[in-house]
Amino acid sequence: MKFGHFDDTQREYVITQPDTPLPWINYLGSEEYFGLISNTAGGYSFYKDARLRRLTRYRYNNSPLDMGGRYLYLRDNSTDTYWSPSWMPTRVELDDYECRHGQGYTIITSKYNGIRSSTRYFVPLGESLEIWQVTLTNESRSDADLSLFSAIEFCLWDANDDATNFQRNYSIGQVEVIDDVIYHKTEYRERRDHFAYFACSEKLAGFDTQRESFLGAYHGWNEPAVVENGKSYDSIAHGWQPIGSHHVKVNLKAGEQKQIIFILGYQENPKDDKFDPPGSQTINKKSAKKALEKYLQTANADQAFDELRDYWTMLLGKMQVTTPDEHTDRMVNIWNAYQCMVTFNMSRSASYFESGIGRGMGFRDSNQDLLGFVHMIPERARERILDIAATQLKDGGAFHQYQPLTKRGNNDVGSGFNDDPAWLVLGVAAYVKESGDWSILDAPVQYENEPGTESALYEHLQRSIQYTLDRLGPNNLPLIGRADWNDCLNLNCFSDTPGQSFQTTTNKDGKVAESVFIAGLFVLACKEMAGISRKLKEERGDSFVFQLSSDDYFQFARDMETTVWKAGWDGNWFRRAYDDFGHVLGSKENTEGQIFIEPQGICVMAGLGVENGNAVKALDSVGERLATPHGIVLQQPAFSQYYLHLGEISSYPPGYKENAGVFCHTNPWIMIAESLVGRGDTAFDYYTRINPSAREEISELHKCEPYVYAQMIAGRDAATHGEAKNSWLSGTAAWNYVAITQFILGIQPTLDGLQVKPVLPSKWSGFEAVRSFRGVRYEISVQREGVGNEVSLEVDGKSIGGTIIPLPAEEGKTVKVKAVIR
Ligand code: GLC
Ligand code: GLC
Repeated sequence: MKFGHFDDTQREYVITQPDTPLPWINYLGSEEYFGLISNTAGGYSFYKDARLRRLTRYRYNNSPLDMGGRYLYLRDNSTDTYWSPSWMPTRVELDDYECRHGQGYTIITSKYNGIRSSTRYFVPLGESLEIWQVTLTNESRSDADLSLFSAIEFCLWDANDDATNFQRNYSIGQVEVIDDVIYHKTEYRERRDHFAYFACSEKLAGFDTQRESFLGAYHGWNEPAVVENGKSYDSIAHGWQPIGSHHVKVNLKAGEQKQIIFILGYQENPKDDKFDPPGSQTINKKSAKKALEKYLQTANADQAFDELRDYWTMLLGKMQVTTPDEHTDRMVNIWNAYQCMVTFNMSRSASYFESGIGRGMGFRDSNQDLLGFVHMIPERARERILDIAATQLKDGGAFHQYQPLTKRGNNDVGSGFNDDPAWLVLGVAAYVKESGDWSILDAPVQYENEPGTESALYEHLQRSIQYTLDRLGPNNLPLIGRADWNDCLNLNCFSDTPGQSFQTTTNKDGKVAESVFIAGLFVLACKEMAGISRKLKEERGDSFVFQLSSDDYFQFARDMETTVWKAGWDGNWFRRAYDDFGHVLGSKENTEGQIFIEPQGICVMAGLGVENGNAVKALDSVGERLATPHGIVLQQPAFSQYYLHLGEISSYPPGYKENAGVFCHTNPWIMIAESLVGRGDTAFDYYTRINPSAREEISELHKCEPYVYAQMIAGRDAATHGEAKNSWLSGTAAWNYVAITQFILGIQPTLDGLQVKPVLPSKWSGFEAVRSFRGVRYEISVQREGVGNEVSLEVDGKSIGGTIIPLPAEEGKTVKVKAVIR
């Protein structure tokens, strides 16, 4: 069953009934000011950091699940009835309802008793404010006497403190209401130099800033007393729960239409210019007023919206495809790229499954998020890489996370995740291939955010490789440390105390447990380093200081490959690890956890077994043992009980999360591996199994949004096989984008130019694509003339050898590429 449909022309998903299986959300803002918004206007806003600078309050894990947001209430004053134009929170049944989620905006339209209301929510580019543009139309035959109420609940900035520290919080809330604008200024008198404002384009009939006055004692958001009575209290909050609510009277003749604009904004003031007049305790509102003057005018709001649309047309225009499959087209052209922007911005901080107070930006996560984003705005990827690299430790290791507001590494979940450093190499490689910007390798970057420790980024990469070389175990495989990519495989933890965090507890010295996954990742990273140093030598000659040559990195890779064949190969697939007792995991010798997906993906991606046939063996084992109609599960057989020596992975019920769920992040690794061994049909089949658009028809089962990937789909051991959870913030977004665009469609940035080397499903006759790459627009047409994967290329009418279109082409030029596959 579906709850809406795609509108590909508008690049929107249109939800046609409000009671979706879960809140289906979207994101507002893509730079510094952000909001989450559900299909019934639930959600919240923040500036840069969802934990430290939260603007509006949201209560997670509520019932109903999604309560609290950017609410409007409409009241028919002639009948004393009221409703929510976004259905929630009153849940009065609407005559008509539609929610359109687009890139950075959401439009919720509904009709009740002849009154149509349409609200467009978005954040203008370059601004730290959000606009709600409400259009009310009287579609009935009689005149309407209406009241419109807005309602948001302010958060006292630090979302964690806000949700816990009530002995203090109930006394500190402060607001100002001046010229009909509501200003939230809690803690402004002391160390904060920022405030929020909430304004309306119309003259107000009243307002409220105290929650209890607005709702009435013992009332919920579904029946605010002020809305019931049609009269605001003009309440001023003193402590308790500051809110913002405007009351606007609207008289509409039959057929008449009116637009009303609300603005919620965030403003910082210089420390020495906080108050106006100086010496008073009144907020200096100059800058906020300027923004209000501009955006409370319809023409300016409309223009800001058009600019936002154009911006996305430009970003998405960097890669557009026309294939025989509509699900591929809409994910590549619109939704997957959009989700990559969101994961790039949010990392794993704020979604309807991540509370915004938990994790900062992850070292490994952010490096992977780059992979799907870097072609859109390479400059932002560059900045991100330098921020991440500055949290690298001197020994090459990494802080596992950092806070986006301060850009400093934090020790909340410790360090010693031994895969972390290698991801930096992959992130930088992706950036350099995309941009051709070699200067990033010279950029001076600190270690551990310590001034004075700067070295060239290139040296950071060397230390990343060295980190693994310095930490080899009894079999010469890399030691796993706290965990590798799989945070829940905790081989040095041995936690027997309830509540202990698996990721911060380490009871063993970690000199035995080894990871075949890191081995594969290391080989991949070494090959990237070899490529980078080869190319850098070409570009710079001897003027650049290399401690190690390209050949050295190839040698590291070869040595590790030898080790993997010796200790990491199980006969039909790659093993997963060795535990603290030196016992193998992910082997036919095990009773549970015989085969894991991660090493099959990463080792083949690193090239292992592609030549000797073992890659195909490993992938066939994946197909036989791990693949389900809902995606490929992480391992089999699932762990049926808790194993002290394995940790969190065995703490989950079978079929969920890392214990044999379809952990979607890993599926594209197998798609890539299948393309590397030339099996386009299998690669594309796996792609389709977890493609959210292709799963739209089973939305009742899938539950999450059909326009974005979720982290997990319950595996075959679960009671709810096929049910997705944790949508939006997952490495799944970037990796699926890479798998489909760079491997199946085969359009791949390389150090030497753009490669076109598709590995297509056999039924496809070809496809068309446009790709902007290093300032050049490539118009690519692919035709199948035979059943194989042999590619021949014609560039601007001339055939070339190989599959890489040589550089340079003149900036701004259009290059026509014809690829024939036989
Ligand atoms: C989560 C984490 C990611 C980890 C994965 C597997 O998605 O964000 O870092 O690799 O789980 O455990
Ligand atoms: C792992 C899990 C993820 C969890 C995280 C932090 O990455 O996959 O679900 O949130 O660890 O504990």
